[in-house]
Amino acid sequence: MTEPTAKRLYIKTYGCQMNVYDSERMADVLRPLGYVMADGPEGADMVVLNTCHIRERAAEKVYSELGRLKEMKLAKAASGDGVMTIAVAGCVAQAEGAEIMNRQPAVDLVVGPQAYHKLPELIARVSRAKGERLAADFAADEKFDALPTTRSAGGVSAFLTVQEGCDKFCTFCVVPYTRGAEWSRPPEAVETEARSLADQGVRELTLLGQNVNAYTGGLANLARRLARIPGIDRIRYTTSHPRDMDEDLIAAHADLPELMPYLHLPVQSGSDRILRAMNRDHSAVSYLGAVARVRAARPDIALSGDFIVGFPGETDADFEQTLALVREAKYAACFSFKYSRRPGTPASAMPGQVDEAVKDARLARLNALLDEQQREFNADMIGRTVPVLFERAGRNPGQILGRSPYLQAVHAAGPQTLIGKIVDVRIEAAAKMSLSGVLVPEPQLEPA
Ligand code: SAH
Ligand code: SF4
Ligand code: F3S
Repeated sequence: MTEPTAKRLYIKTYGCQMNVYDSERMADVLRPLGYVMADGPEGADMVVLNTCHIRERAAEKVYSELGRLKEMKLAKAASGDGVMTIAVAGCVAQAEGAEIMNRQPAVDLVVGPQAYHKLPELIARVSRAKGERLAADFAADEKFDALPTTRSAGGVSAFLTVQEGCDKFCTFCVVPYTRGAEWSRPPEAVETEARSLADQGVRELTLLGQNVNAYTGGLANLARRLARIPGIDRIRYTTSHPRDMDEDLIAAHADLPELMPYLHLPVQSGSDRILRAMNRDHSAVSYLGAVARVRAARPDIALSGDFIVGFPGETDADFEQTLALVREAKYAACFSFKYSRRPGTPASAMPGQVDEAVKDARLARLNALLDEQQREFNADMIGRTVPVLFERAGRNPGQILGRSPYLQAVHAAGPQTLIGKIVDVRIEAAAKMSLSGVLVPEPQLEPA
C-alpha cells in the first residue's frame, strides 16, 4: 500500500558539491509538504533539475533531460495520475531562466540558487493557478536564514555550505554571475547546523564555498570551533583559492588533528602569461610557494587541483609550463578541463581561441601525467596503516567502504557495524581510484 497523500519528489543534481548540498536542502524544505524522495523521475509529482552552467556541455545536458521529462509529464497526465511539476534550479536557472521557459514549455518553475527557501510558496502558486509559469525573483536575500534549521543527514559524512559566491571574476568563469558576490554564513549558524548533523551520526564535515578559504573571520577559526563539537572527528574544506591560503589556515593543518591532510587548490595553468589573462591574481611561483608552505606544515598532505587547457592564446610553450608545474607540485588527484567558451565572460571574446583538436591533444597529455601521479600517490600507500572512516557497505558481500584521510576510497572485508567508525586499515593494494586493505586488529599486535 502506498501512502495516498505522499507526493513523490525526484531531484537530479549536476555540477559541484554546492549543488549536492543545495539539493539536500531543497528536500528538507519540501519534506514538511509531504514530499518523499523517489528513485527516478518516472511518475514523480515534482521533478527538480539542479543545474550547472560551468561548461557548455553541462548546460546543454539540461535541455536534453528536459526533453525526456516532457514525455514523462505527458504520460502521467494521460494516465490520469495527476500532474508532474517540473522545476529548474541551480546555475543554469540563474543564468538563463527566461531562455529555459522559452525553449521548454513543460517547465513550470525556474528558481535560482538564492531562492530555494521560497519553493513551497512557488509550488503552491503554480498548482493554484493552472498553467501559470514562474521564474523566482533572484534577490539574494539570506536564504540560509529562511531554510529549516534542522536538516536530515544522509550518512556519516556531510557537506555544509559556509560561504557562497565569488568576487574573483576569473575571465573564463560564470560562477560570479550565477552565485553572486562572496558572502559568509555567521559561525553560530554554521555551528548549529553542524551540531544537528553530529546528533544524527555525522562524523565528517566538508565545509563548502566557491572560495571557502575567503571565509570571513577565518576558515581556521571556524574549523577549530567545529572540531570541538562532540562526534565531529574529521573536517575538510573545498574549494580554496591560492591567494586566500592564509598563514592561520596553514598552521591549522599542523596543529588541528581534525583537519584532514587534503587540499584542493586549483591553479588552472602553469603559465604566468595565461594566469594573467585569466585574471587569477597569482603566478606559478606564488602558487608553488603556497603549496610548499602547506607541505612544511603538513608534509603528508594530499594535493589536488583544477586545470584548464586551451584557454584563448595558450601556446605549446604555455602548455609545457603547465606540465612543468604539475611535475613540481605533484598531485594526488586532479580535475582537468578543456576551455569552454561561456557567453558573457571576458575570455569568450578574446582572440586566439584554440582549436578543439589542439585542446584534445593537450588534455590527453595532461591527463596522462596526472594519472601517473595519482597512481604513484596511491601506490605509496601500500604497506601503510591508515585510519579509515567507514561510510557504507561495499559492492561485494562482506565488504565495507570508507575514506582514508587523503580522501581515497578504501575497501576492506569487515562487519557493517563498523559503518560510522574510524578504524585502522593496512593497505594491501592500490588502483587508480581506490585502495583495499585489511582491518588492523585492536589492540594492534606488535611483532615479537
Ligand atoms: N571556485 C572554484 C571552482 C570553480 S568551477 C575555484 O575557483 O577553483 C570548477 C572548475 O571548473 C574551475 O576550477 C575550472 O578549472 C573549471 N572551469 C570553470 N570555468 C570553465 C570554463 N569556462 N571552461 C573550462 N573549465 C572551466
Ligand atoms: Fe570561478 Fe575564479 Fe571564482 Fe573560482 S575563483 S569561482 S574559477 S571566478
Ligand atoms: Fe556549476 Fe554552479 Fe557549481 S555553475 S560548478 S553548479 S557553482
